[in-house]
Amino acid sequence: MNFKATDDFVNAYQFIDCRITAAASASTSGSSTVSSTLISTGSQCLPPIITQLVKCLSTHKTLPGTLLPEYRSLPNVLLYDNAGLEYFDRITYQPEYYLTSCELEILSAHTQSIIDNIPNNSDIIELGCGSLRKTEIILNAINKHCKGVSYYAIDVMPKPLHSSMSMLASKFINITFTALCGTYDEVMPHLRKSIRPKTILWLGSSIGNYHSSEAIGFLAGLVRDFLAIDDAIIIGMDMKKDSNVIWDAYNDAKGVTAAFELNILSHINHIIAEHVALLDPNASSDPVFDQDKFIYYGEYDKAIGRFDSFLEARQDTVISWPPAIAAYIGKLYKCKNDMVIKRGERIHIESSYKYSSSAPEVLAQFTGLTFSAIWTDRRGYYTLNLFRKPYAMMLHSLRMTPPASLDKWSTQAAVPKIAEWKALWETWDMLMLQVIGHDKLLVRPIDLRHPFIFYLGHIPAFADIQMTAADSAPLSEPLIFAQWFERGIDPKMDDPTSCHSHSEVPSEWPPVEKIIAYRDRVRVRITKWLECYLQSGCKSSYDAARHVWMAFEHEALHVETLLYMVLQMNPEDICAPATCTISPMVLAWPDEAWLSFAGGNDIVLGNTCDNELQLHSKLLPPGHIFGWDNECPSTNVTIKPFRIRTQPITNIEYFDFLREFSTNDDCVTKSSGGSIAIVLQDLVPKSWIVLTNNTAHASSVSDTGEHVSLAADYGVRTVVGTPSIKSTEASLWPVAVSEIQAEAYAKWHGNRLPTEAEWTHAARTYHLARAMDAILSLTTNFSITAVDTHLDRLLASQGTVAKSYTDCPFDMFVPSDANIGFAHLHPVAVSSTLSSNADADKVGDATFVGNTWEWTATPFYPFNGFIASPMYPGYSADFFDPPEAYDHDSTHYVIKGGSYATHPRIAKRQTFRNWYQRGYPYVLASFRLCEDAS
Ligand code: AVI
Repeated sequence: MNFKATDDFVNAYQFIDCRITAAASASTSGSSTVSSTLISTGSQCLPPIITQLVKCLSTHKTLPGTLLPEYRSLPNVLLYDNAGLEYFDRITYQPEYYLTSCELEILSAHTQSIIDNIPNNSDIIELGCGSLRKTEIILNAINKHCKGVSYYAIDVMPKPLHSSMSMLASKFINITFTALCGTYDEVMPHLRKSIRPKTILWLGSSIGNYHSSEAIGFLAGLVRDFLAIDDAIIIGMDMKKDSNVIWDAYNDAKGVTAAFELNILSHINHIIAEHVALLDPNASSDPVFDQDKFIYYGEYDKAIGRFDSFLEARQDTVISWPPAIAAYIGKLYKCKNDMVIKRGERIHIESSYKYSSSAPEVLAQFTGLTFSAIWTDRRGYYTLNLFRKPYAMMLHSLRMTPPASLDKWSTQAAVPKIAEWKALWETWDMLMLQVIGHDKLLVRPIDLRHPFIFYLGHIPAFADIQMTAADSAPLSEPLIFAQWFERGIDPKMDDPTSCHSHSEVPSEWPPVEKIIAYRDRVRVRITKWLECYLQSGCKSSYDAARHVWMAFEHEALHVETLLYMVLQMNPEDICAPATCTISPMVLAWPDEAWLSFAGGNDIVLGNTCDNELQLHSKLLPPGHIFGWDNECPSTNVTIKPFRIRTQPITNIEYFDFLREFSTNDDCVTKSSGGSIAIVLQDLVPKSWIVLTNNTAHASSVSDTGEHVSLAADYGVRTVVGTPSIKSTEASLWPVAVSEIQAEAYAKWHGNRLPTEAEWTHAARTYHLARAMDAILSLTTNFSITAVDTHLDRLLASQGTVAKSYTDCPFDMFVPSDANIGFAHLHPVAVSSTLSSNADADKVGDATFVGNTWEWTATPFYPFNGFIASPMYPGYSADFFDPPEAYDHDSTHYVIKGGSYATHPRIAKRQTFRNWYQRGYPYVLASFRLCEDAS
């Protein structure tokens, strides 16, 4: 029977044979998983599966995690021909094989909560669907509750795929069915076209047949190339348990497992015979393997959590390859045509990994997925684990773990990799086209900025201008876009007519589709440049690389400004991602804790090596780190001993201050000139709490100077709602305020804000000291040690010159779970970073980077010797105040660190300096208290 398009079932579901070759003949014979590949590769060489088979048989390897013994092996994909699939289906009914019954139990007991995670109008894609017995439970519920769902089943053999699909397709009329025949790699290109939300099902503990590095590689590839943000994958994992239970599962009383494993030999005989017949239709060949000469043997390694299946030779056995293919084997592998398997020798067939409870978290860590739900059976034997592709600009490969050595202080490539660009574009599109949406692009939520649509064009226009500077090719069409969208606006808050030079915007914005098509042309241009750069072995002129880097960081910075514009929209207009929720838990605030720093010596701020003028005609030096013009040249600053709080001020602390402040008329009077308007907004959009006269603020603040009482509760703006500052985890999020508001709190508390130098010194020495403590397995009590003194001692003990760490613009060793790059779509509670088992006199962990930026007391001034970048002269220079204004009348102040919306490259680079007008109320910046120490 030909399953490709027979009329009797084509109406019920679509069948696509994704294998590259003559699918019809393969599926007509319907016997071998690999027959189609045999045909396509022609008669002049061996098909890949046979070369793989010969390679596996002729090499001896140890199993992962063991030093001895070494085994020959067979490719486990060969277990699955028609007979193999039938045997496997029978295994799933054996009482000893608990995996299937546990999975069925979970699916039945938790159907509702599982399908709650599957959106309407989405695609479900099942990898290796088998008999669909388990899937039927999910599809049954979906058929009743969800609309517009399409189900795609993937499997290697057409015949079983057809019989299970035709049964289901006629049963569930509300679901569209498609059967895709082929391997994962063959099938994925057919599915990539869909832009609907996706849920991938990878059930049956299939993951267990892969070594963890293979599973991670496969999943990381899916995340990178196939999943869109918020797409889900549900993975069935078999857990570690009593060894006897596991041993029995693979040694059923009826011997079905043994028959299943032995069947691999007849499948091999079959594909070899098929290939021989193809080479010479008249040739006949003896079977390569005699099944009777082997028995099945299984072994469970409890420590590793792995069951291994072998075929053991019952007597000395010679494997003779048919002459037609023996010649190729000899040439390819320099092995003898005949192989001798000695009596008792075991050939490894497959591994079935069992997992510990931490495995899903580890898998998430290494694949860049977020682990979001787990369902288990009554006995805890088996789990279904839900992962999602996070809203993160950061791929896991870019996350930084404590360094193995101190030689390599930066993990960033000077030119961002293609994968980094793709992740950035995905984030940008998610915000612009999903959270804001096409119909809101003309909205202008902040008067001091353009409407959203400007930024849709600005990002590609800026990048295109940089690319032309890099490769001298013409600008992309339409050329007028480079003019309209070149530069945005950032006027003075107290005089919005005063603004740096900027693009003259058109009287009417071009259609969105045109801007999107322009965006795509520029993205193709960037991708081509990056491909050439890679092909050249990462060789580029310094200037070209710098332009490309600028285009990247520029877009990354705009992601954050776009986000805070979104936060000023009417909350009802924000299209929030449905799956992200904020915990309603109120966490306990840990005791206030401080870190001490000895200071004393000069410290270095800024990038010592990125001298644009000196390097411009040269090749990009290896290991180079770019920075913006204001990060150069480096400068020395002396700091005195100081103390700084471990955590920034939280919403609830700021609210308590306001409440106390607002009932005290003296304080209101004393604060004149300082704004106490806060970002903690009433649940009514744009209603600001005004406690005192403030003319420096944006239009949202009245200048009546009226004393108003605080409401009982407020909400914090996020893209996923406005959680209460009193009764949710938002109470312990760092407060987002303007510098004026931050300063008011610090003064009221009897402290001050840290300077840029103090903040930088604290953050980089603390994070480096913590990382080194981890490497050296030390536990330092920072409540009794000055952090920098401790670090100096550590460096000296390792033979590194103390303080040399400040001479290099290294990345800060921020913990890998820092809330940057949209690790979360909102801040997270500061208390979560404190060690839960800290004893009374420990200060616990501090976090300097992530959640929110932090205001410093330092005006935005150029380092001594500053030269505006010829590549973008106004980037910083347009915002420096005249020197006479420093310290008493500055407009802009430096913020350091990074927020949840800050790109990890930027948040980690310790020399990066951001700045805002001191009254700017929209920036995601908090502050921490600082004081002099003797
Ligand atoms: C398909 N896979 C998850 C099964 C397992 O448990 O490793 C294959 C199997 N081999 C023997 N029994 C079942």
